[in-house]
Amino acid sequence: MANPVVSFAALFLFYIFQQSNASYNVITFGAKPDGKTDSTQPFLKAWSAACSSASPSIIYVPKGRYLLKETVFRGPCKNKITVQIDGSLVAPTDYRALGNSGYWILFIKVNRVSVFGGTLDARGRWLMGLPEICQSMHLVINGCNNVLVRNVRAIAPDLSPNTDGIHVQVSTGVTITGSTLQTGDDCISIGPSTRNMLMSSIKCGPGHGISIGSLGKDVNEGGVENITLTNSIFSGSDNGVRIKSWARPSNGFVRNVVYQNLIMNNVRNPIIIDQNYCPNNQGCPRQSSGVKISQVTFRNIKGTSATPEAVKFDCSSSNPCSGIRLQDIKLTYMNKAATSSCKNIGGTSSGVIMPQSCV
Ligand SMILES: *[C@@H]1O[C@H](CO)[C@@H](O)[C@H](O)[C@H]1NC(C)=O
Repeated sequence: MANPVVSFAALFLFYIFQQSNASYNVITFGAKPDGKTDSTQPFLKAWSAACSSASPSIIYVPKGRYLLKETVFRGPCKNKITVQIDGSLVAPTDYRALGNSGYWILFIKVNRVSVFGGTLDARGRWLMGLPEICQSMHLVINGCNNVLVRNVRAIAPDLSPNTDGIHVQVSTGVTITGSTLQTGDDCISIGPSTRNMLMSSIKCGPGHGISIGSLGKDVNEGGVENITLTNSIFSGSDNGVRIKSWARPSNGFVRNVVYQNLIMNNVRNPIIIDQNYCPNNQGCPRQSSGVKISQVTFRNIKGTSATPEAVKFDCSSSNPCSGIRLQDIKLTYMNKAATSSCKNIGGTSSGVIMPQSCV
């Protein structure tokens, strides 16, 4: 007799749960799915209603195109919010409508917010040739804890400047999985003060690869720690996995990083540490980076390099890299073994290593 009772209780709970969700359709707040009428205020009104709801709420965006100008979804909110998008959000055709805000759509001071589905059409071609404009990265996670990015696709032209797919900084516990990033800059870039980050099942390319950095631009900078990238594919990208720092004094660091089970298809620099970043040779007094890189593992990385040198470790002369581990690396260039180069590095190699390890 126990089972029916249990299932009845479960059904009853399900019923309660369903009933307690408040739902807010942006159309009822005046949004127009025509792609032309400014729907910013209706979206903000739907957000206010959801945000002040004591029970979990859903903001529903039906099929259609909704024009949004600079939009700030501000918390804190009283309960969970789910934004379910069946349509597309489109930016103004003229980027000047966004002013100098630095963003198009911003979620700030929120907790327990989920966004599902939808297409976000930022119409960024206006920005081509205007690299000084800051609305160029697709998705920025800044100052956040415990964020999950799943099955996201970011697309920008190969040559569009600064169009990083996902940029993460000053954040802990970010997971990015199952995502396809085809951009003109880094597929994923990781800035200072980032910890406990996991990336898996990423497809990157075209783009500049997955980068930690640039770090060490400032003297006082939080480090990057406990970062894992696994089971991912790079195709035709400039870099595969890269750690990059300015050749300037800094107390920054990178430690406990694992790159494993990666495939490189025709990647220009499949594995690269570059601590000599100094564009135009300006502002790098000692030409050596203060950023300390240690405990970085490269394991089971295979495929093809688009240049003869597939592995490059150019570490800081004042702060050499240490604890670099290479295990089972097989990278070829035009069907032959590629080459590797090392500067200021300490570590170990094991398993099959091709190109021959310089560590
Ligand atoms: C490292 O990060 C992972 C998430 O990728 C987390 O589960 C783990 O607890 C972290 N380890 C430490 C020592 O903080």
